[in-house]
Amino acid sequence: MSKINTPPYLNFPRVSNFNISLRQIRDSDINDIIDISFYDATQATSLQQAIVMNSKINKDYEDGNSIHWGIFDNRTNKIVGTCGYYRGLDKGEGELGCVLLPHYRGQGFMTSAMLLAIDFGINNIGLKRIWAITSQENKKAIQLLERLEFTRIRDLDDNDVEFELIR
Ligand SMILES: CC(C)(COP(=O)(O)OP(=O)(O)OC[C@H]1O[C@@H](n2cnc3c(N)ncnc32)[C@H](O)[C@@H]1OP(=O)(O)O)[C@@H](O)C(=O)NCCC(=O)NCCS
Repeated sequence: MSKINTPPYLNFPRVSNFNISLRQIRDSDINDIIDISFYDATQATSLQQAIVMNSKINKDYEDGNSIHWGIFDNRTNKIVGTCGYYRGLDKGEGELGCVLLPHYRGQGFMTSAMLLAIDFGINNIGLKRIWAITSQENKKAIQLLERLEFTRIRDLDDNDVEFELIR
């Protein structure tokens, strides 16, 4: 059985393709992502709150529970969204989550980012299971997951649905 390589790592992982890069979020990036900063399902409403949330996210990374990347457009070096694994790493599993700034939706950024995150999850962390949860009404998230060949595996309480990447 292959070994699970959970965070933290010697250097925060940076992964890229031709169009985008996933890298650690710096304090200087946070002003651009206040509206898409969440922690424990609460959304930030100020820069200060978003900074506090980012510190908690960094602590989760140091504790080996999550890895949260900023997604950067290689052409502009601007942050367009975030994605990562937020649960399950200690068990060799990963719950993927993601959000794009509204202005950058509909251009393929997240499909590209998720492919990088999935590849990192399988080949670097050694995940045995990758899943995602969204609500039944979240058409764009469902389309994204289906585009990435996730399979709808079960309906959950509160109108949520679970998808899993089955290979
Ligand atoms: C879920 C979410 C990330 C999806 O964003 P998205 O923009 O639809 O996803 P992508 O960046 O992969 O872009 C795909 C869209 O761009 C289009 N596109 C344009 N160029 C493209 C390219 N080069 N490659 C792929 N898609 C491209 C696709 O056709 C698709 O559009 P469509 O949905 O109208 O068919 C976004 O709606 C969001 O941030 N929602 C709020 C948070 C959320 O719900 N998160 C999900 C938790 S599981």
